[in-house]
Amino acid sequence: MRCPHPRGPLSTMVRGSLLRHAELDLDAFTRRADAVPRAHVLRDGDVQLALWTLYELHFRGFEDVSADLEWDPLLLGARGVLECLLERDLRRRTVERVQGALDADGPVAERIFDMVAADDGPRLAAYLHREATAAQVVEFLRERTVFHLKESDPQSLVLARLEGRAKTALAELLYDEFGGGRPERLHASMFADSLVGAGLESSYGAYLDEVSGTTLAVNNAMSLFALHRRLRGAAMGHFAAFEATSSVPSRKIAAGIRRVGLPEVVAAYFDEHVEADAVHEQLAVRTICATMVEEAPGLEADVFLGVATCLLLDGLAGGELLERWRASGSSDGPVEQVAS
Ligand SMILES: [Fe+2]
Ligand SMILES: [Fe+2]
Repeated sequence: MRCPHPRGPLSTMVRGSLLRHAELDLDAFTRRADAVPRAHVLRDGDVQLALWTLYELHFRGFEDVSADLEWDPLLLGARGVLECLLERDLRRRTVERVQGALDADGPVAERIFDMVAADDGPRLAAYLHREATAAQVVEFLRERTVFHLKESDPQSLVLARLEGRAKTALAELLYDEFGGGRPERLHASMFADSLVGAGLESSYGAYLDEVSGTTLAVNNAMSLFALHRRLRGAAMGHFAAFEATSSVPSRKIAAGIRRVGLPEVVAAYFDEHVEADAVHEQLAVRTICATMVEEAPGLEADVFLGVATCLLLDGLAGGELLERWRASGSSDGPVEQVAS
């Protein structure tokens, strides 16, 4: 993958520095970042692409960027500026859900499941199941490339930060995500096969230039939580909510893929997640998150922050897609009213 095309001043400065066109001016970068309206941070394509690009240095990097820049102090400084914006906004928007979970009675695992059950976000999977056109299903797959082509990579960084039962459970979960010893069963590879079946590009980073700022924010939140040891509770809370909101929607999405007549291979990735994530949610919620809080009660609030962040961002990204389809006139009726 090559360094992505910029979407505004912040991503232009990051790209210029990565391609060694100009040294990053951290003061100017900070001033620019501070000028971004708070309400726009999560959907601002410039902010989110700049941060995604800086994070990618810690994953697979870019063929036109020197690997030495991964630990460049100025770039790390710029990353920190954007992380502050993102974390502040996520905490602000999730404060009520997190406080509600902290105030509730019962075991941590049940409170996580209650947060997921209480979520009334947009019914994207239900729409894909019953109403989406083939073109909309393909658009959904394209938007998801950013996440699924590096599926579980951020969470794998957390493994070294855990111990005991939580570590064993995360290792077991990741073993599945990474194919159970079979490269062709890597979930990222299965998703790449789905893309090819749908006539799409399957290379890592495909469609990065086209996806929304919110889609990038979904992925940046995972990297933010995974790359900071202090946020390991949020990383696992997010993972738990992700797994706990995957099994039933995956069944609906697979049915929608078949309804619009896309090839079987496109549905196979989602079929795999119907059963796998029904198991994974139990491991992530009951073993990983509950054990972490049992052993370190100070992590409780951040576990709930991770859960709330996953629900918030998935809701925003799903709502944005539904809104886009409604605005284009290609969806019928009040799409957010579709029952799950
Ligand atoms: Fe998976
Ligand atoms: Fe999973």
